[in-house]
Amino acid sequence: MCASGEHSFFSSSHTCSRCVCEMWLTRKRWTICTISILLIVYKTTDIGRNEAHQRTGLTRKSEPGSFRLMVNSSEKHFSFDLRDLSDMGVGWKSNATLVTIIRKDVLRFLDAERDVSVLKSSFKPGDKVRYVLDRRRTFDISQTLHSLLPEVSPLKNKSFKTCAVVGNSGVLLKSRCGKEIDSHGFVIRCNLAPLEEFADDVGLRSDFTTMNPSVIPRVYGGLQDERQRDSFIRRLQQLNNSVLWIPAFMVKGGERHVEIVNELILKHKLKVRTAYPSLRLIHAVRGFWLTNKINIKRPSTGLLMYTMATRFCDEIHLYGFWPFPKDGKGNPVKYHYYDGLKYRYFSSAGPHRMPLEFKTLKTLHSKGALKLTTSECTYA
Ligand SMILES: *[C@@H]1O[C@H](CO)[C@@H](O)[C@H](O)[C@H]1NC(C)=O
Ligand SMILES: *[C@@H]1O[C@H](CO)[C@@H](O)[C@H](O)[C@H]1NC(C)=O
Ligand SMILES: *[C@@H]1O[C@H](CO)[C@@H](O)[C@H](O)[C@H]1NC(C)=O
Ligand SMILES: *[C@@H]1O[C@H](CO)[C@@H](O)[C@H](O)[C@H]1NC(C)=O
Repeated sequence: MCASGEHSFFSSSHTCSRCVCEMWLTRKRWTICTISILLIVYKTTDIGRNEAHQRTGLTRKSEPGSFRLMVNSSEKHFSFDLRDLSDMGVGWKSNATLVTIIRKDVLRFLDAERDVSVLKSSFKPGDKVRYVLDRRRTFDISQTLHSLLPEVSPLKNKSFKTCAVVGNSGVLLKSRCGKEIDSHGFVIRCNLAPLEEFADDVGLRSDFTTMNPSVIPRVYGGLQDERQRDSFIRRLQQLNNSVLWIPAFMVKGGERHVEIVNELILKHKLKVRTAYPSLRLIHAVRGFWLTNKINIKRPSTGLLMYTMATRFCDEIHLYGFWPFPKDGKGNPVKYHYYDGLKYRYFSSAGPHRMPLEFKTLKTLHSKGALKLTTSECTYA
């Protein structure tokens, strides 16, 4: 059932998913993705797949040495029962050979060391840049933004035995995974999710935290008043000089929030290492998955993080990835562990395809390429 004879680690039609959320508020379409890169989509000018491909030169055929990952993209069809997911950790073993194959294959499309952030030397203040997902519009690199661009990649020379990528699903509640998550060599978290009140279940440590610009209006009221600014500043202080990763160049609408955030960081001399993903990252990630026949229009932040982590982590452990409204026992699961946001996982209105992503990740889990934890952690 593999498309090519080479290293097929996905044997056939299986299902996967991912997480993102979508809401309709005051007649504007807000696509809110906890794990997703785009929080605010005012005018979703979607680029056709072919266009995106031509732009990034990703039309190549599979080369020798690549692997093929076959997943049935029919999202409604899951070849597994949610009940089977509760003890996935039992007997799981990492397959180092496969991990190396995937790392090499991802490297043909992107190098996390380079694509994780644009660098100061790539721009000067006043430069005009096209939005990644809306090529007709441009924005200016402000002085403020320029001064916060890193001089070297925050992932330069990085390499870890084990990493955690933490999604924000409510499946983490009562998981008691905090200790285990914090024990990894590098911990990646999504969208500035709150930690302190949930430390038992999600942990506290963070080496790399993503923040979609839409978090600013959605969670911090646009940072209009003192109280909102204080609470935001306190959250950034918890980052303790780790990386704050802001997808600032995706679509028009977010740049004013990014500017306010950048100004606050400078004004209060906050200890965070800001990073802003390269203009090609999302297309490259998409291209990588497409060669494995996984057609994901907009990879979620969680999938982006996994894909990048393949570069510098040997064992990648995923927590809080669960794009279903119920757990394996039939109990309700919140979309986010920390708020009441609702999301229709199977809706085609949103930009993400979380069930397909999950199906993919689950297949990778069963092959030992990554470890998905979707139930309680039993930390010895
Ligand atoms: C995917 O699954 C659906 C639903 O079971 C099935 O009808 C379809 O034939 C499958 N597609 C492939 C390519 O296996
Ligand atoms: C590890 O993955 C490789 C590549 O997919 C495969 O050939 C090999 O059989 C796997 N090893 C084990 C122990 O499963
Ligand atoms: C990365 O490693 C190279 C070679 O070991 C070294 O010269 C360089 O200074 C390192 N860079 C950083 C930022 O650590
Ligand atoms: C902050 O970072 C330093 C250096 O990495 C680390 O030693 C310290 O434990 C961290 N503090 C907290 C509260 O996480």
